[in-house]
Amino acid sequence: MAGNVQGLLVVCFWVVSVNLLSSARAQEFSVSVPENVAVGEKIFSLPGTRAGEKAELPCAKMEGDPYGRFNVTMNCTIVVANPLDWSVQSAYLLTIRSGVHNTRVKVELSDVEGYPPVYNETCETPVNPNGWTGDLLFRVKLSAEMVTGSGDIVTSSELYTHSSYLWKVRPPVDWQVQTDNSDCNVRVILYDNSGDHQEPLQELLRNHAPRLTCTSFSKLSRIVIDLYDLKSWAGTTALDSLKMYVPESFVKRSDLGIVLMWSWSSPTTITESFSCEAPAEIEFTMRMDSITMSAYAEYIDIDINPVGCPVGKYGFLCHKTCICKNGARCHGFNGACKCPPGWKGVACDIPKRDVSITTTPSDPRDIYISANVMFHCKAHHVKVRSMSVAFLNKSKKVSLGENEIDFVVPNIQPNNNGPYTCQVRDTRGNTLNTTFVLNVTNCAPDTKGARCDEVCGCLQRASCDRWAGCVCPPGWTGTRCQTKCPHGTYGQDCEMECSCQNGASCSPNDGKCDCTDGWYGKDCSKPCKNGRFGWRCQQICTCKNNATCSNVDGSCACVTPWMGPDCDQWQTSRDEPLPLLEILVSLGSLVVLVAIVMAILYKTGILACSAPDTGEEDKILSELRRMEQDLAQSLQPGWLGRWEKKIKHLTPGPLIGEGMFGQVRKGQLRTPDGELAVAAKTVRVENLQSYRDFHREAAILVAVHQQRDGDCHESNIVRLVGLITKSAEKYILLEYAPKGDLLGLLRRFGNINEKDLLGHLLGYAVHIAQALQELERLRIAHRDVAARNVLITADDVAKLADFGLARDVYNADQYIRCNRPGVDELLPLKWMALESIETGEYTCQSDVWSFGVLLWEIATLGKDPCYDGRMQLSFLQMVGILRQEIRLERPPGCPEDLYRLMRSCWRDVPDTRPTPEGIKERLLQLRRALLPHDVIEMETVV
Ligand SMILES: *[C@@H]1O[C@H](CO)[C@@H](O)[C@H](O)[C@H]1NC(C)=O
Ligand SMILES: *[C@@H]1O[C@H](CO)[C@@H](O)[C@H](O)[C@H]1NC(C)=O
Ligand SMILES: *[C@@H]1O[C@H](CO)[C@@H](O)[C@H](O)[C@H]1NC(C)=O
Ligand SMILES: *[C@@H]1O[C@H](CO)[C@@H](O)[C@H](O)[C@H]1NC(C)=O
Ligand SMILES: *[C@@H]1O[C@H](CO)[C@@H](O)[C@H](O)[C@H]1NC(C)=O
Repeated sequence: MAGNVQGLLVVCFWVVSVNLLSSARAQEFSVSVPENVAVGEKIFSLPGTRAGEKAELPCAKMEGDPYGRFNVTMNCTIVVANPLDWSVQSAYLLTIRSGVHNTRVKVELSDVEGYPPVYNETCETPVNPNGWTGDLLFRVKLSAEMVTGSGDIVTSSELYTHSSYLWKVRPPVDWQVQTDNSDCNVRVILYDNSGDHQEPLQELLRNHAPRLTCTSFSKLSRIVIDLYDLKSWAGTTALDSLKMYVPESFVKRSDLGIVLMWSWSSPTTITESFSCEAPAEIEFTMRMDSITMSAYAEYIDIDINPVGCPVGKYGFLCHKTCICKNGARCHGFNGACKCPPGWKGVACDIPKRDVSITTTPSDPRDIYISANVMFHCKAHHVKVRSMSVAFLNKSKKVSLGENEIDFVVPNIQPNNNGPYTCQVRDTRGNTLNTTFVLNVTNCAPDTKGARCDEVCGCLQRASCDRWAGCVCPPGWTGTRCQTKCPHGTYGQDCEMECSCQNGASCSPNDGKCDCTDGWYGKDCSKPCKNGRFGWRCQQICTCKNNATCSNVDGSCACVTPWMGPDCDQWQTSRDEPLPLLEILVSLGSLVVLVAIVMAILYKTGILACSAPDTGEEDKILSELRRMEQDLAQSLQPGWLGRWEKKIKHLTPGPLIGEGMFGQVRKGQLRTPDGELAVAAKTVRVENLQSYRDFHREAAILVAVHQQRDGDCHESNIVRLVGLITKSAEKYILLEYAPKGDLLGLLRRFGNINEKDLLGHLLGYAVHIAQALQELERLRIAHRDVAARNVLITADDVAKLADFGLARDVYNADQYIRCNRPGVDELLPLKWMALESIETGEYTCQSDVWSFGVLLWEIATLGKDPCYDGRMQLSFLQMVGILRQEIRLERPPGCPEDLYRLMRSCWRDVPDTRPTPEGIKERLLQLRRALLPHDVIEMETVV
């Protein structure tokens, strides 16, 4: 690798020695400069030896510089005008004329290691004629399969083509992308010496092999990611070798930090596909809107396609300007010039006495047997006396005085193969020659055979080799590439063996596995985790009572004495849970080049544990303001942060509720006062709607608790214990209600006519009416008042929960997909006020309507509401029914007075419905009538 690092012009100590042995008229100076001195540098200034000497200026003319390497200014300063090259000319003897004085300046170049850059054809990149400023030299595609915390399998793929993708993320560290070497290597270097990050990174260095290797299918290229701790290397030779790549500014600092180097060698001109084994500990962080999620990468695939820079640009970011002249090609990596015949020097701007032979067609691979080929012989920068062309040193064609000869060889045959020599004799009698070896072996397109008389007829756009016939693209085989690779094989010539397991199919061209139900991973060898099953683990097991769930079809193997499909005889059989929507998460602002680097940093907590993010709070507030002005107003600055708890203090326990959008787990929260049982609610599907719901719920609960000044025990709104929003998985921590939800409780009773049952249950209704009173004060609408969203505490108090409208609850079939134009959400249609269904507007009065339905649920012991004898109603049918004044019927055994209260809640005109306070009064009366003998003890909560 020696000699590949472009020498840096660090300090310019020009050695100027004055030679006064010559006559008084001709002063002689000598200057020594490195060959990579920048254009525009002043390398010599004529010292004024005597006062007034400079008055004889100006210096206007200079000799000894035929190719314009230097300029001389009026005041006799020599400036570099064009790139120098020691290998072309290592010394210049310049004569400056000023007045009668001649000043001779000898400029000596010194050879600089790694200069000029080498044009390495192995990794020549194309020129992108349609490119724009800011396009990247490579088009990089990153795809990954990841498993989220809740067990979803998420695929993600992102294409990086423009440098603006890179600026989206401001790395916390210095970074640099180097391509300016000659060994086809791209190096991404990140440097971090910020004190906070030292510890976790060093921890990482100690505990994990800080290296990730990605191999390419072609086995030519590889990507290596290494982490170096400069501090522990200080003073060692290892540091010295690293200094070759790491910028001086990084390692020179006194506080040596950590260097992460992503090195990717790419000795190829075609697209390379890399496959990276992701160690289990690498955690990816994805961003959607302002939300960060985390997932563990199963595997990462990286496709790197060299697309090239726009004309005249080079470098990874295509932001450096090529210096190549005279039509020379500029290398995309390092800007090295590939000179056309007749030119030399770093910038191909120095004439070279030369003879060249070119052909038409110019690419030798396009020359095939029976084609007509034209040869061009040309002399460059030579005064030609005669020029001759010879084939196999025998037949000759001579011309006099011309500097160019063309000749055609028609119907090229193998016997025309051999050396063609062009020789030039100049006017001084010198000869120059060049030789071109013709080696035509190919047949014309689509033909083959010894005499090139057989037709190939290849399919799949395969190329045709004279001897081998069709050369099939990966995944195809057969004499004409007419058949796909046999089962279990893939790739070029079907030589690779598929590694797909568990019945997964294997893509014939690249061997990628398409997993069957219940499996994931690169080779589909991993069974679904976390109680998931089915295709991409998108379905949720419903097995109860310690039954094991099949990862393939979700069937349950029950533990005796349980039976039934879900091993749960108490529950009526449920519909198959709906499969989760497949989501393709964008990697957002992750930059491919720093993706894994960032991932490591995230893993170590560097990027994740930021200070409380007030920007995020503002964003959520403005979102809330759009939805509910009142809600946003009742929140004080810092509302989110004040409730923040640490994820490490939460010990999640068993699942107690699960819906399509989230789950609720029982958990233990460590607090200064000891362990506290909590219900930890998470959002599961990572979509915008569920995050909005999450924040709405958090905001309402915070607002409610803020109002009550932390005196939450007396509220009939579920108590907020805390929020966890800073970790990837976000939680709302609520008081744990051991008796579960009201709907489940109702359904466990046998008969509404049981003595005192209804009176007892109306106590819960009173509590919920009080909750509505609280919300009315705050002018917040709950939007989803229903028995399923009421929790019963250990003290038998009913509390209103589920403010997110997260439709997260245990009965997905109570929600109906709404087809209102522009709206696609699941709605609790049968609980909704007419105006909410029609206009999407929610008020405290529409909550009162829903409360009427909740009363109906109580009176029926948790029956599903049924309008007009129909269980399933569409959005339009529902509107029609309510418009015709049809309402839920009086449940059997329901007192007339109670039914009249329900009907009053279902009045068309919102303002005519009773207020929560009025409802509470009425309920207390009804309850007293039902329990005349009983001490009314339940409305202690006021
Ligand atoms: C000569 O002129 C150049 C600008 O053309 C200036 O930068 C330089 O300092 C001058 N040198 C002397 C010795 O006056
Ligand atoms: C050198 O002189 C030429 C012609 O006078 C001018 O175009 C060019 O910009 C000069 N180059 C430098 C580096 O001063
Ligand atoms: C060109 O790149 C290849 C692949 O990295 C390397 O092996 C070779 O030495 C390089 N050639 C030159 C002239 O640097
Ligand atoms: C071509 O030139 C080389 C020297 O440059 C000489 O040795 C060789 O004999 C020449 N070939 C012919 C065919 O003139
Ligand atoms: C011509 O090319 C073939 C491969 O295409 C090679 O095997 C052969 O050696 C070459 N012949 C000459 C004279 O270079």
